[in-house]
Amino acid sequence: YLNSHATPIVLKADGLAAGKGVIISETTEEAKTTLKEMLADKKFGDASSKVVIEEYLSGIELSVFVLTDGKDYVILPEAKDYKRIGEKDTGLNTGGMGAVSPVSFADKLFLEEVENTIIIPTIDGLKKENIVYRGFIFIGIMSVAGRPYVIEYNARMGDPETEVVIPRIKNDFLELLIKTGRTELKGAKIDISSETATTIMLVAGGYPGDYKKGDVISGLSDAKDVLTFHAGTLVKGGDVVTNGGRVIALTGFGNSIEEAIEKSNKAAEAITWNGRYFRRDIGLDLLELAK
Ligand code: GLY
Repeated sequence: YLNSHATPIVLKADGLAAGKGVIISETTEEAKTTLKEMLADKKFGDASSKVVIEEYLSGIELSVFVLTDGKDYVILPEAKDYKRIGEKDTGLNTGGMGAVSPVSFADKLFLEEVENTIIIPTIDGLKKENIVYRGFIFIGIMSVAGRPYVIEYNARMGDPETEVVIPRIKNDFLELLIKTGRTELKGAKIDISSETATTIMLVAGGYPGDYKKGDVISGLSDAKDVLTFHAGTLVKGGDVVTNGGRVIALTGFGNSIEEAIEKSNKAAEAITWNGRYFRRDIGLDLLELAK
């Protein structure tokens, strides 16, 4: 099958692989080696015991989130995630190095197409298959020449997208969740802030490869005007120390990406530890695109 497939080619571990189970091969030979590593050598453990082979799509990705009670749904703010470790989207895939919401290229027309051609058929499809699903649907979408294509579904929110999506929701979020649980979402409205939210993820040196834990974090109280999300931290002997690869996310708000990212950046510079790393280009591609 690989011999007959155009390159580049996408190989995806079908199971849960912490957002890292996707490998793009430039040549057929590379794809064969990767497929063997995934299937026979269990590169992603049991997650790659089944591999999905997909056409490579070239475009720009965004994440769309839907909350459904199994019958009705509300669409949450969309977000763009930055998956690679290096600036300008280089290097290894990570769980996510930052996020921006809203996504400027996802205008009203684009989002209407997403709703009509992806969200509604998804909810209808669940009903048709008698799957009673109440909760979040995360739809990974790629805009290819301005048209939305589904890349993946997750039955959860995204990280770090959540850190920019949820803060933009002005309604009582608990009420929406209760309505979801009680199948009462019909007619529910979602009030979304027009502000831009950006988040920057501070990670341990070496991540997504091997990294150290237990480094003392300083400057937490200097992170002003942001929401600080602790992901991989621990309180130890009166200090806050690192306890994971992705350690802290810093969400800033503003009337533009520039305004929001300045706040996230300032806080990111202030919080540090031995080996701390973060991307300094979150949102810059969207600014470039909008020019
Ligand atoms: N940020 C990507 C994910 O949560 O899968």
